[in-house]
Amino acid sequence: MRESGNAVPDIDILLDLSHLYNVTINEMLEDIDLLRELTGKETRHSGIAYFVPEQEREYNIAWATKMKNGKWVNHNWEYTRKVNPSMDNVGKQIASYDGIILEIGTGPGGGYMPYILKANPDATIIISDLSPTVISEWKNFLDKTVDSPNLYYAVFDFCAMPFKNNSIDIISDGGGIGNCDGEKSQALKEAYRVLKPGGKLITSTGFVNKETLAALPGEVQNVLIEKRPDIFEDLYEDTVLAGFSKIDSVISGCWYTDDDDSAIADLARSLGVNLKFTSYTRYCTKE
Ligand SMILES: C[S@@+](CC[C@H](N)C(=O)[O-])C[C@H]1O[C@@H](n2cnc3c(N)ncnc32)[C@H](O)[C@@H]1O
Repeated sequence: MRESGNAVPDIDILLDLSHLYNVTINEMLEDIDLLRELTGKETRHSGIAYFVPEQEREYNIAWATKMKNGKWVNHNWEYTRKVNPSMDNVGKQIASYDGIILEIGTGPGGGYMPYILKANPDATIIISDLSPTVISEWKNFLDKTVDSPNLYYAVFDFCAMPFKNNSIDIISDGGGIGNCDGEKSQALKEAYRVLKPGGKLITSTGFVNKETLAALPGEVQNVLIEKRPDIFEDLYEDTVLAGFSKIDSVISGCWYTDDDDSAIADLARSLGVNLKFTSYTRYCTKE
């Protein structure tokens, strides 16, 4: 069979690609179909759709190597198998909505994706991140562990999503926008644009509230305000400006920078403080 000029690829080419990328032809066709339909763009046929260069960004290589060598994805998945009432509950809610779920900024922790799969192993989820290593790590791991035909993998910047307007049912985000490489306000605008009317963005992150700031030494306050003004934003205004009109926020707890190794945690340590972040989950509907 030769190319007929429409969307049916030549079987020999598919076989060659399948050997080259070590994926099944079914995987390639599913990847082509769903992501081509949602984006209107050609994607690479490797089981992972790339909308940015396939190579890890230079500044991220050290982190990505640490994540890969340390098998963070495996360890984090194990952690998500334990009972976690708050995350399990959000995972169940997301899984209860019908349709295509887009997990953005999946990261080595997986955001809400592991909890959605705990509630419904057959959920349709596009697992995405800007880091190609994050996505290949998750694909390698989930192919062995879950082996669901309903999981899709895409590498893109969530501040410039490849999806068509009004194409996605649910966007879930467990701390991706909060750790955004780019403008958080732009990420929220993109989420609004790609969601279908009635679609939902479920996003969680944390911020340093006014009381916590006021209790810090004046010198520390000044440095933090100058260097990391973003940590004081709860993103509510940006969410409204993005277009969301129905917004419910639930405070879910707190975390301390001494417990993690992020850039802000390093900054806090260098200033001799253990910063408290108040965390929340926000349910935003596109009406
Ligand atoms: C450090 S993680 C934390 C949250 C993550 N959901 C988790 O559970 O690990 C943040 C992730 O967001 C991704 N990210 C940051 N900015 C992004 C952007 N503009 N587009 C897509 N992914 C982004 C990073 O590559 C990283 O994997």
